[in-house]
Amino acid sequence: MKKKLLISLICAAFLSLAAAPMLSAADAPGDDYVIPKVEGLKFKDKDGKPGKLQKLVAFPHSKHASVECAQCHHTMEADGGAIKSCTEAGCHDSLEFRDKDNAKDIKLVEVAYHAQCLDCHKDLKKEQKPTGPTACGKCHTK
Ligand code: HEC
Ligand code: HEC
Ligand code: HEC
Repeated sequence: MKKKLLISLICAAFLSLAAAPMLSAADAPGDDYVIPKVEGLKFKDKDGKPGKLQKLVAFPHSKHASVECAQCHHTMEADGGAIKSCTEAGCHDSLEFRDKDNAKDIKLVEVAYHAQCLDCHKDLKKEQKPTGPTACGKCHTK
C-alpha cells in the first residue's frame, strides 16, 4: 500500500514537472532590456496641442529575480508558458491616455504598469528596503 502511494506520488511529481513551463531567469531578456514602445498610444492634449509621451522605461529582469515570472506575466500559464506583451495578451490593451474618468482602469497600459512597478517600489521604500525608482524621470529615462 505504502509503496503504491509512493510510486504514484513520484509519477505525479514527474508529470507536473513535464507540464510546468520551465522558464527560468535564463529565459528572461538581458539587463539592457527596454520595455518596447506601445504603438498607437494616444497623446494627452496640453493647451490644445498634443502633449509629449514619456520616455521609455528600462526593465532589468535580473534585478527582479525574487519576483515570480507569472506574477507579472500572469497569462503565461494559460498560454502554455508563452510570454505575450502586456497589450497583446488582451489585458492592458486600451490605448487611451489616462484621464479623470479612467484613472483607475487597469486596461490602460499606464495604470497597469504604474500599479505594478511603482506601487512595489513605493511600498519597499516605505519599509526602507532596497527598491527601484519612484520618481518619473528616474524610470522614464530611455
Ligand atoms: C516585475 C515584472 C516582471 C517579472 C517578475 C518578469 N518580467 Fe518579463 N517582462 C516584464 C515586462 C513589463 C516586459 C515587457 C512586456 C511588454 O512588452 O508588453 C517583459 C518582457 C519579457 C520578455 C520579452 C517579451 C518580448 O517579446 O519582448 C520575456 C521573454 C520575459 N519578459 C521573460 C520573463 C521571465 C522568463 C521571467 C521570470 C524569470 C520574467 N520575464 C519576469 C515584466 C516582468
Ligand atoms: C515586487 C516588487 C517589484 C516590482 C513589481 C517591480 N520592481 Fe523594480 N525593483 C524592485 C527592487 C527590490 C529593486 C532593487 C533591486 C536591487 O537593487 O537589487 C528594483 C529595481 C528596479 C530598477 C533599478 C535597477 C538598477 O539597475 O538599479 C528599475 C529601473 C526597476 N526596478 C524598474 C521596474 C519596472 C519598470 C517595473 C514594472 C515592469 C518594476 N521595476 C517592478 C522591486 C520591484
Ligand atoms: C517604476 C517606474 C516608473 C515610474 C517611477 C513612473 N513610470 Fe510612468 N510608466 C512606467 C511604465 C513601465 C510605463 C508603460 C510603458 C511605457 O509606456 O513606456 C509607464 C507609462 C506612463 C505613461 C503612458 C505612456 C507614455 O509613454 O506616455 C505616462 C503618461 C506616464 N507613465 C507618466 C508618468 C509620470 C508622470 C510619472 C511620475 C509621477 C511616472 N510615469 C512614473 C513606469 C514608471
